[in-house]
Amino acid sequence: MVGVADPNKDSTVVIVLGASGDLAFKKTYPALFGLFKNGFVPPHVQIIGYARSHIELDDFRKRVSSRIKTNNDEEKKLLDEFLKKCTYVSGQYDKPEGFQKLNAAAEEVEKKYQGQKHRVFYMALPPSVFIPASEGLRQNAYSKNGSNRLVVEKPFGKDLESSKELAAALAAHWQEDEIYRIDHYLGKEMVKNLMILRFANVFLGAAWDRFHIHNVQITFKEPIGTEGRGGYFDEFGIIRDIMQNHLLQILTIVAMEKPVTLDAEDVRNEKVKVLRAIAPLTVDDVLLGQYTGSKDGKEPGYLDDPGVPKDSVTPTFAAAVFYINNERWDGVPFILKCGKALNEHKTEVRIQFQDVAGNIYPGVERNELVIRVQPKEAVYLKLNNKQPGLSSNAVMSELDLSYSKRYSDVKIPDAYESLILDVLKGDKANFVRDDELDAAWKIFTPLLHKIEREKVKPEPYEFGARGPASLNSWVEGHGYARTKGYSWTPGKL
Ligand code: BG6
Repeated sequence: MVGVADPNKDSTVVIVLGASGDLAFKKTYPALFGLFKNGFVPPHVQIIGYARSHIELDDFRKRVSSRIKTNNDEEKKLLDEFLKKCTYVSGQYDKPEGFQKLNAAAEEVEKKYQGQKHRVFYMALPPSVFIPASEGLRQNAYSKNGSNRLVVEKPFGKDLESSKELAAALAAHWQEDEIYRIDHYLGKEMVKNLMILRFANVFLGAAWDRFHIHNVQITFKEPIGTEGRGGYFDEFGIIRDIMQNHLLQILTIVAMEKPVTLDAEDVRNEKVKVLRAIAPLTVDDVLLGQYTGSKDGKEPGYLDDPGVPKDSVTPTFAAAVFYINNERWDGVPFILKCGKALNEHKTEVRIQFQDVAGNIYPGVERNELVIRVQPKEAVYLKLNNKQPGLSSNAVMSELDLSYSKRYSDVKIPDAYESLILDVLKGDKANFVRDDELDAAWKIFTPLLHKIEREKVKPEPYEFGARGPASLNSWVEGHGYARTKGYSWTPGKL
């Protein structure tokens, strides 16, 4: 069984801080149920929710279950069993009494078992209470006989300085190896697949360098706007919300050298090296955008969001080009693009290979390997094929590994499920290390400060567009060559 030395004797208490909030109900509890349902939680586990509001246990359980889907009677029974494992304690984040009550509730569970008493503290909390809560937990609710794991969610600061402050405040009470910084993209199936694709396929490994790869694009698109979250979003903007964490994490995995082993420190050592080889971005490296209302008037613009100041220049779209100054990647543009209120929902990694040298066939275009992270997970390789029939021209076709066809009977776990399982197992490979965070902020901080100081104006784009009008020429200007007359439909034969 996962995460415990002696499954018959040890106990595990998972404490969800911010248990009455959106993240907990939407992600944490459903993920814990997913693990429970599939037999991936330790046998003696109890889940204690903690938040400021007073909520009756029955009501709390009702709220937890209202966000969990069950597909049949057996799952309904399992959900009832799961709910019995969920309790709730209310208390403050900045006073010891609440945490002492929490500790007493955990001890009540633990005293039934003779083995070690492990605790996982999952902080689904706003940044304002982050520091007092982590301190209060360490002082009042820390297990003295078993492992303690503190799971933290972004934002990890707003720039290098605030991130360092936060790191120092955490480090005053917690060891780095007890801290699990979540970037939920690292729990996505296709992001986890990247290392296997690269390091377990000889032909891909052999072509994975500047001699064979022309450019890399990592794209995140969301068809929704800020939808009332504008007040929060405006403080951060799309670069901090998506690019500095989710997309940069993907970039490091695409670019890193093969780690010595799969051990967390070996993997993260390689990722840090990539980040340290990237120079800080300047305004010349980016294209910024902000969405306006849709033409038909149905969708509001960013500035119409009640929480957003009318003169806000916060970008809701950003594209940036990165160069990695090392032997493998020198000169290869890594183009990262992300935006809200765009034409579709899609995250993908697109590796475009070099032109065929000394080409002799009409119609040949660059190969591309596309890893479709979501939705409709897939890996497809665009390759030049003889046009079937009497022509001997090349035509672009693809080898298509669409999960809906190849793995139709497998349910892909939610990213949070996969990451919470890692926490229970004590595997930190898919979590962000402190020096990794530092190196990431170093790349973005000068740019972010300049944008804010000089109020750099983003280019407007209409709600539902592909991005700002200059996007295509910007991307092409950085080396990407669009394949002519080609389109791919996920899983379609
Ligand atoms: C979050 C961002 O980290 O990721 C959100 O704060 C964004 O703005 C979300 O919508 C996207 O995650 P996913 O898993 O839905 O792609």
